[in-house]
Amino acid sequence: MTRITVIPGDGIGPEVTEQALLVLGAFGLGLELDVLDHVNAGTFLETGVALSEVDLKRITGSAGTLLGAVGDPRAAGTRYARDVLLRLRFELDLYVNYRPVRLLDARLSPLRRAGRREIDCAIVRENTEGLYADIGGALRSRTEAEVAIDTEVTTHLGVRRVIDYAMSAASRAVCMVDKSNAVPNGGRVWQRLWRAACAERPDLETTHLYVDVAAMRLVQDPTQFEVIVTNNSYGDILSDLAAELAGGLGTAASVNLNPGTGFGLYEPVHGSAPDIAGTDTANPIGAVLSAALLLDRLGHRDEAAAVRAATDRAVADGRCTADIGGSLGTRAAGEAIRDLLA
Ligand code: NAD
Ligand code: IPM
Ligand code: MN
Repeated sequence: MTRITVIPGDGIGPEVTEQALLVLGAFGLGLELDVLDHVNAGTFLETGVALSEVDLKRITGSAGTLLGAVGDPRAAGTRYARDVLLRLRFELDLYVNYRPVRLLDARLSPLRRAGRREIDCAIVRENTEGLYADIGGALRSRTEAEVAIDTEVTTHLGVRRVIDYAMSAASRAVCMVDKSNAVPNGGRVWQRLWRAACAERPDLETTHLYVDVAAMRLVQDPTQFEVIVTNNSYGDILSDLAAELAGGLGTAASVNLNPGTGFGLYEPVHGSAPDIAGTDTANPIGAVLSAALLLDRLGHRDEAAAVRAATDRAVADGRCTADIGGSLGTRAAGEAIRDLLA
């Protein structure tokens, strides 16, 4: 039996994960779900440990992990998010953060001009270095002379492998996004390896944009993009922007992937949304579509396509949560998707 580890996490994480698991359960694929209920901010605040070695073994020994969201106002300013999410990304070398963005229903996009509605792209975010490398330090802390430094790490291997993945994920066009005009050292690595990769794929339309212009172009007309490849921070920011353009942050899915091992950590793009936790209003679609990415990766392509089709239908019928124009709660919105699967 295929064993999937599950980290429901904090805030709305458990609420949306429950709906994703119910959708997975609808197929009777014989997936064994190994739920790590204790990996959350409460445990971290009580014990100081977010993710134990035993937890890590359960995760690495599984076929993939579904994660809701981690983050809690009580743990703000601590290492909690790093110790769970970034630790998994870095230690399991999940170097691709694949974040597809697809318009579920034309009414949802703020881009209402005709012909500008078919948003269907993916952000391929470098996921193991950049500003997230946690290299730096602080001098003269808490004085007026305080200096804090976070070093942006750019490696040849890190850039090359994520560009390679982006090229392999595209059928039409890849756009590389950096800030090499202002951040020259890492920028030179991105530029050189990008040019080399482009030379090998003359069949693809390859373009480069600085990140500020990329943000503008995404808002202006996102339909021009197929795959965007970029570093860790720009990928984080642009994927929230693109998610909202395609209808709402609550609908965006992602996988943190090591294409070599095939191991993936599947999670909605959004966070734990403490402002709406416990109100049964969170949109479960980001989590459900992340589970569909897991189905794809396990080879259950028809089932994954069925989940996407049912989700589209539920949204088109207005059987969804209030953030995307419906009036259903989290549970009822999940149930609507399951109904349409049948
Ligand atoms: P957030 O994504 O949790 O919320 C941003 C806004 O979007 C909020 O107004 C929220 O109500 C809304 N929203 C998010 N998901 C939604 C959904 N499914 N349905 C409807 N509305 C939704 O971002 P934040 O408020 O900056 O972060 C909250 C906590 O989550 C922080 O601790 C942060 O570090 C953490 N976080 C975790 C992850 C993750 O686990 N992958 C991702 C982002 C943020
Ligand atoms: C995301 C989140 C994380 C990130 C946070 C919680 C560290 O925003 O997965 O997009 O910045 O990568
Ligand atoms: Mn983010």
